[in-house]
Amino acid sequence: MAWVIGLDIGTSSTKGLLVDEAGQVVASASHPYELIQPAPGWAEQNPEDWWEATCTVVRKLIQKAGIQPSEVKALGLSGQMHGMVLIDQAGQVVRPPILWCDVRTTAECRAIEEAVGLEDLLQFTGNPALEGFTAPKLVWMQRHEPDALARAETLLLPKDYIRFRLTGERRMEISDAAGSLLFDVRAGTWSEPVLERLGLPPSLLPPVVGSWEVAGQITAEAAEATGLPVGTPVVGGGADNACGALGAGVIDPGQALVSIGTSGVVLSPLSRPPATSDGKLHLFNHALPERWYLMGVMLSAGLSYRWFRDELAPLEKAAGQVTGIDAFELLNREAASAPPGAGGVLFLPYLNGERTPHADPHARGTFFGISSAHRRAHLVRAVMEGITFGLRDSLELMRATGQPVSRLRAIGGGAKSDLWLQIQADILDAVVERPVVDEGPAYGAALLAGVGAGWYRTPHEAAQHVAVQATYEPNPETREVYDETYQLYRDLYPALQPLFPRVAALGG
Ligand code: XUL
Repeated sequence: MAWVIGLDIGTSSTKGLLVDEAGQVVASASHPYELIQPAPGWAEQNPEDWWEATCTVVRKLIQKAGIQPSEVKALGLSGQMHGMVLIDQAGQVVRPPILWCDVRTTAECRAIEEAVGLEDLLQFTGNPALEGFTAPKLVWMQRHEPDALARAETLLLPKDYIRFRLTGERRMEISDAAGSLLFDVRAGTWSEPVLERLGLPPSLLPPVVGSWEVAGQITAEAAEATGLPVGTPVVGGGADNACGALGAGVIDPGQALVSIGTSGVVLSPLSRPPATSDGKLHLFNHALPERWYLMGVMLSAGLSYRWFRDELAPLEKAAGQVTGIDAFELLNREAASAPPGAGGVLFLPYLNGERTPHADPHARGTFFGISSAHRRAHLVRAVMEGITFGLRDSLELMRATGQPVSRLRAIGGGAKSDLWLQIQADILDAVVERPVVDEGPAYGAALLAGVGAGWYRTPHEAAQHVAVQATYEPNPETREVYDETYQLYRDLYPALQPLFPRVAALGG
């Protein structure tokens, strides 16, 4: 028999899937790790944790499925975007990677806009300078840790670092390179003018490979650590959002993805990049040839719900550990007992600032409209709805570009609850489809590995294996209450925006 493995080096864990040629998932595994927050707004991780999780997950998959390692024909990698992994000549990491959700680089974003020019930056890279992207982190290194930067030989992204550990190859893959703000997404090459104007050496940037191309083979050392045979091919893979979209079959214009993982994403593919960008939505390369996508990103989507569970529902968390019923399932049931619109309670999910649509590192989470008549059920429901209103902000920007988004495929934690899927259909006013495999990025990575294994000729052909298991239609009866609540949600941020810097001044 023959199998492929798809891995997703996520923010909270590494997830893996073992998949057969028909696209069926035969085993899944995951392994968690820590997010290191050395200061408010900072987010780093230990790449050794990613590596250990990778080895653990690969071994678990092989063991769970009871297969021979030699039956694994290829491996595909996906991962959190933008994280700055700098390695020296010997392959050692020069400092803990700064991640996509780190917002320390506001001053560096302004410096980039000044050095490159905002118009030129949008023209050269398709995107504005946002804290989460990689280039601002490198400029931060120039200013704060020049010695470490000088030691760095190669810039990699999280999943590309794992490829380096697996294969010894220093390569970056195109859909992830797109999020560096150093890449000309229209031309598919590193942007020389941006590198020059930022004073960054081109030698820092590795060769770029296609998502579906074989980009290296398992080394003897990695074979020892993972149990995979020496020589197993590792394909380029893709950014988590690109792989999430591919794995949900969102590959062509007119389709769209809604993903609630740690971040929240609305994404829609394009067959041609727009000639100009206004920067309101990200413009990146997809994990398929001749495909790009527009994307809006919330920083704290699933993260907000996880925060609520951890900080405000400790009993459910503890009960879950004893009874085996997931704490989220208990909270979902509680939320279902509150009415649509959560009885006027609103939640702004800006726990660590926000990216789309506000690009504001100072924004903070807010509960609004609470009276003594409200129960905790209203708060839980408000969290689920607030996250979905944030996604609607991105969807409205998408619709304003002329993308007719009336059907969405949902993946991630937000696709695991019937209630939340219905809330998404109602608030986004679109038909929401749940794919059979809703794990997202790891599945897309496995489909790309299938191309590398020679099973499919193209990623497009691989995506034909994606099937839908359930469909949620918008309920016309909730439209009015959700439209009104959304308007209030929209008005809340501008009203609070001047106050957020004062929260920051208090250390928040
Ligand atoms: C995308 C982004 C996030 C991360 C999450 O621009 O920053 O969606 O990729 O892993």
